[in-house]
Amino acid sequence: MQVFKYDTRANVNYMVEVFAVASGKGGTGKTTSTLALGMALATEYDVTVIDTDTGMANMLFHTGLSDSETTLHEVLAGQAAVEDAIYERFGMDVIPCGTSLAGFREADPRRLREVVATVAEGTDVILLDSAATLGTRSAVLPIVLADRVVIVLQPTVPSISDGLKVQEYAKTYGTDVAGILFNRVTEDENIDTVARKAQRYFDGETLSKVPESETVRAARRASKPLLAHAAESEAAGAYREAAGKLTVRDADSTAVADRFRNAVIPDES
Ligand SMILES: Nc1ncnc2c1ncn2[C@@H]1O[C@H](COP(=O)(O)OP(=O)(O)OP(=O)(O)O)[C@@H](O)[C@H]1O
Ligand SMILES: [Mg+2]
Repeated sequence: MQVFKYDTRANVNYMVEVFAVASGKGGTGKTTSTLALGMALATEYDVTVIDTDTGMANMLFHTGLSDSETTLHEVLAGQAAVEDAIYERFGMDVIPCGTSLAGFREADPRRLREVVATVAEGTDVILLDSAATLGTRSAVLPIVLADRVVIVLQPTVPSISDGLKVQEYAKTYGTDVAGILFNRVTEDENIDTVARKAQRYFDGETLSKVPESETVRAARRASKPLLAHAAESEAAGAYREAAGKLTVRDADSTAVADRFRNAVIPDES
């Protein structure tokens, strides 16, 4: 099932804000968080989530889209139009990415600008699920392109330290911090103290503290976002709380699209 709704709205300016969901290390819960925040925001906004982790994509496994033929890989390779990679799932528009090495090799990350610019013209909120490392062009691009970044942290010193690097990087490119989101919080951690201390170093507020929970893993095994699998769970509630703090800013979507088309891409580092 594919939707293409831009024609009907092309002449009207809407608000749109682009968030990157990022962290320093892998496995902090970026993909889980992108989809949970996306579903929570979708009750109020028109939301598009994009898997920009083109080297290690896994959003497709969280959304039941592992068989989709056209993904961001084909779009970034210049072989498909953006509209063909948009799937309507769980009340959102989902742009998954393929998992093959060949697909990754053929994908030109620079085309992501055009993808986001096109999507920006027909949606209110774009969430870019980002890759873990800041070392490659495809990994940094979402942070460069976004208006604001949601930094996902585990409540450990290394994770917080990595998160600070993400913040530093984001600021270099004029991307604000929307907030920090603690995930995989266990009861034996003194999360309130950790969060209070971490808060001193981050620009954005603490959006939420999501517990480590078997329900989150079960959602992934069921190929569903957490809010679709267990809407009433404590973790789902924590994500709704986070989404409630993400006030979407009012930016002219045409201006945002132009900004993306003209964005300067940093050199491979
Ligand atoms: N709060 C949580 N409780 C328990 N398991 C979790 C939680 N959040 C995420 N997970 C599990 O941890 C694993 C990694 O989560 P996810 O894929 O969202 O992280 P990621 O940051 O996107 O990883 P990557 O860096 O590999 O892209 C998944 O199996 C997921 O189900
Ligand atoms: Mg991920």
